[in-house]
Amino acid sequence: MSSQDIPEENLPAEQEHAHVAVSVADEENPFADPGLPPHEHRIQDIDERAAKRSERVVALLFTVSMLATVGFIVSYVTIPHDKSIFVFPIGHISALNFALGLTLGTALFCIGAGAVHWARTLMSDVEVADERHPIAASPEVRAKVHADFKQGAKESAIGRRGLIRTTMFGALALVPLSGVMLLRDLGPLPGTSLRHTLWAKGKLLVNMNTNQPLRPEDVAVGSLTFAKPEGLEETDEEFQNEIAKAALMIIRLQPDNIKDKRELQWSHEGIVAFSKICTHVGCPISLYEQQTHHVLCPCHQSTFDLSDGARVIFGPAGHALPQLRIGVNDEGYLQALGDFEEPVGPAFWERG
Ligand code: FES
Repeated sequence: MSSQDIPEENLPAEQEHAHVAVSVADEENPFADPGLPPHEHRIQDIDERAAKRSERVVALLFTVSMLATVGFIVSYVTIPHDKSIFVFPIGHISALNFALGLTLGTALFCIGAGAVHWARTLMSDVEVADERHPIAASPEVRAKVHADFKQGAKESAIGRRGLIRTTMFGALALVPLSGVMLLRDLGPLPGTSLRHTLWAKGKLLVNMNTNQPLRPEDVAVGSLTFAKPEGLEETDEEFQNEIAKAALMIIRLQPDNIKDKRELQWSHEGIVAFSKICTHVGCPISLYEQQTHHVLCPCHQSTFDLSDGARVIFGPAGHALPQLRIGVNDEGYLQALGDFEEPVGPAFWERG
């Protein structure tokens, strides 16, 4: 239906005065502005039932967006990370990723599609020719912008179309929740897990190289042995998290060379067990100087004296290495007599 077929009284008031600028070709301006073509009215402009239909379509799209956002949240919470599905023609993919992508894509698409449909069918489509003018924002221009904005708000019919307004605000308010849910991927709060390790009374000290429980006779004077708690295997899901706290250095010293009284009490026949995790920023310590009983962290050269309670004698570390109290069980194996008495690793406990 063209605008010529529509009775004048049916046309919307704001569309009666579309401005058409036409200039006539002359010698100075041989390429005359042909002006705008006659305005074609849409069916929604003259038929309120068609306008209502469009309004319902827009509202439906915004509602689908809201449902898709809820579906995103439900998928994130309920679908296991390791579940996979077959999707033709991609093949086997993560069910969780597929559901998140599908629901978030649908939510965003429906908001966009709703806005486009709203603009194309219900907002004013009168074409306007606007003359160029200086960019300076004079008070008159600002007043005009303000008036245009109000006019635009009026023509978008957001005040009149309550259903669209409500569903659009609902969709826009829910979509950011998808981003909030992703914050869960930062991981669970550590709680008190950094204050404890797998060491406990009776846990055997297992050689990390041979995977065999250690006996005192396995630890020679001057050697450096790395140990882990009995029962912790490399195939365990939590192996890296646990070994990062529980790794031990085992050294045998001459008891006469141990200067620190508590260190001597917590040792067994000169065998001492210290945390392998540097108290600066947590690198694993691995360099042992047999003559001086010093261990050196390769990251920033913090040096600890193992004959004197592993106190710091050089470098940026702020604390001595925690010592594990050890003994021997009835079968002659080295065992822990409890957990570390202080958290291992960087100076976390000063903040805790
Ligand atoms: S981590 Fe050991 S000195 Fe920095």
